[in-house]
Amino acid sequence: MNSPHSPRKVRMCPSILNADRANLISEIERVASASDFLHLDVMDNIFVPNQTFTLDESIQIITSSPLPVDAHLMIVNPDDEAPEYARAGAESVTFHFEASTQPLATIQKIQEAGARASLAIKPGTSFDLIEPLLNHLDMVLIMTVEPGFGGQSFMSEMMPKLTQARAALDNCDRDIWLQVDGGISLETIVTAAEAGADAFVAGSAVYKAQSPAQMLSALRKLATQASGLE
Ligand code: DX5
Ligand code: ZN
Repeated sequence: MNSPHSPRKVRMCPSILNADRANLISEIERVASASDFLHLDVMDNIFVPNQTFTLDESIQIITSSPLPVDAHLMIVNPDDEAPEYARAGAESVTFHFEASTQPLATIQKIQEAGARASLAIKPGTSFDLIEPLLNHLDMVLIMTVEPGFGGQSFMSEMMPKLTQARAALDNCDRDIWLQVDGGISLETIVTAAEAGADAFVAGSAVYKAQSPAQMLSALRKLATQASGLE
């Protein structure tokens, strides 16, 4: 059972990875009314074979976004750079366990700068590796695609990992959110919600829709029904 100290709820986090980069602020405004966070995918062309926003470009988005920013850093050496995103005002900063040499120190620096701290794991990384850090975290991100690109197929074989994470999080005193990222759509969100996710990143499903806000509301409704959350 979920602890009464940590009422869970569904959170929708649209990714602007495949939105129109030339008009980002208006793209964010299209989803703002139906979203909890803006998911900002930061890629350095080293940790993943794709490049998106530099730290300076990210800071500009963080400071001008009408939605709180959920930064997902797919970069090497996040230990120095991740706290910068928190200092710039990101509400949540996620870095990859695979890329970090000092995850605990980085989690603490993010939190000291006033943001929520989160660890992401790639499909090939076992949840067991981050379990010892759970009591320090505000969110865990289980990737349901190989990080790097939007528009990939949801990996349903990650569901046992999500279920394992859900059980471990329910045993923690902290209110730790469980996020999924990759291939979330009307066809897959119920599977992820039933496996225990409560924060949902969606990129192409949202921005390919005629009305991104309506798509987010439809996704939220399905996730809420499937998880029994609010
Ligand atoms: C992939 C990114 C995702 C991506 C999701 O590396 O982390 O956030 O934008 O896009 P879709 O929803 O299209 O899989
Ligand atoms: Zn992401």
